Amino acid sequence: MAIERTHHPVMMFLEKTKASAQFMKEAEHVMPGGVTANIKHFAPYPIVMKKGSGAYLTDVDGNVYIDYLLAYGALMLGHGHQAIQQAIMEQLQQDGTVLFGAPHELEVTMGKRLQSLYPSMERLRYTNSGTEATLLAIRLAAAYTEKFKIAKFEGHYHGGYNQVLYSVNPSIEAAGPADEPVALPESMGMTDGEQRDTIILPFNDLDACEKILRKHKDEIGAVILEPMQGGFIPATESFIKGLRAVTKELEMVLIFDEVKTGFRVGLGGAQAIYGVRPDLTALGKVVGGGFPVGVVGGAKDIMMTSAPRASADVFDSSQSAKSGAKEVLFHSGTYNGHPMILAAGLKTIMTLEEKITSVFSITDTLKEGLEALFSARGIPMKAVGSGSIFSVVLTDREILNYRDLQRADLSTRKMIDMNLLSEGIYTKPLNRYSLSTAHTSNEIEQTLDAYDRVLTKLFGGATS
Ligand SMILES: Cc1ncc(COP(=O)(O)O)c(C=O)c1O
Repeated sequence: MAIERTHHPVMMFLEKTKASAQFMKEAEHVMPGGVTANIKHFAPYPIVMKKGSGAYLTDVDGNVYIDYLLAYGALMLGHGHQAIQQAIMEQLQQDGTVLFGAPHELEVTMGKRLQSLYPSMERLRYTNSGTEATLLAIRLAAAYTEKFKIAKFEGHYHGGYNQVLYSVNPSIEAAGPADEPVALPESMGMTDGEQRDTIILPFNDLDACEKILRKHKDEIGAVILEPMQGGFIPATESFIKGLRAVTKELEMVLIFDEVKTGFRVGLGGAQAIYGVRPDLTALGKVVGGGFPVGVVGGAKDIMMTSAPRASADVFDSSQSAKSGAKEVLFHSGTYNGHPMILAAGLKTIMTLEEKITSVFSITDTLKEGLEALFSARGIPMKAVGSGSIFSVVLTDREILNYRDLQRADLSTRKMIDMNLLSEGIYTKPLNRYSLSTAHTSNEIEQTLDAYDRVLTKLFGGATS
């Protein structure tokens, strides 16, 4: 399709984001690639933001966007929510300090709230990110089972460390058979040993998973998955129930990584929707109200491997402590259970307890509106997802896993996304959409209008 040069999405982007371009040039002299998290990068350069308010972001050029990235899903109450600001200020005033470095009440208050929503969390620990949460879950599983390989699913992301940085976004040509995928590294600096120790499973294919798991039954201690891949491709019920049964039989710890799905698909996460009890759960993002946090919780006997004992303190210099250290799974962190962050998280949960259904219904309105716009032009598109997350997938086929997603029309989706940026609709190109309590019918209407303009420009007007 011929697009006039001035209408080319990248040209329009460059025209509207000159200050971002300038800033990113400067940033390259400070941070590798100009970013402090690789995920923030996209071509030709990421938009540099200056202000957030409710559902909106304003960039350094003064462009205003309706934000559907919401800090990769973390901000389920939108930007700068009054109740969150108040909660952290009150916590600070009440405590008289930002950090105790000792147990405090809110750790238990928040923990009980989490346990009521996630009954599988018989005991829990706080961490400072989702990455740390999945890492702790995997370490707990290894300590408990004394089996040191893990199995993860093709296309699933669990954070930025070697053990799980395999086959997150592999080239299908190199990734081996669909029912027995090979582990492909997603980073430099990975060892052959690490590659052997991470086994890759195909999502939503129970027979294939069972075969692989049985083959490695004496080596795999943990099976970790996003119960909805990327937060939006649901496991089928028979798959997730079957996986629960087989991991139990083979004495593998089943870890639900609900860093994206926690609170976003339902207050109790995907596990409440499926009625499946994982052995361990990792939470992050929404549960910190926009601040860095993670939670790991699960079966008491597994979690208790991390309980300190007088005879096993890694920082105790006495000889008796040294002898017991190997009996405890050491987990620590200066900032774990940070009071202001827990206050923000608790206020977020309390607000969502009242408002989550309205976030879901506004999300459904947007999904339906978008499907109608594509369908009126005869373009196959599915708004795949549940609760407050979905992705725009250009396909008419069923989407069950990573390979299905790769077969959708990603280049057209990317072109649409670049055009939408110039229309003031923000998400990182190709990313999923997350909504918040700040998104109202007004923002949905503006978004559908912007989509309509972009689709008309690219494909012509609606035919019916
Ligand atoms: C499912 C999942 N697990 C783990 C992580 C890592 O969380 P964090 O970025 O807070 O370290 C993410 C982040 O996107 C995620 O989506």
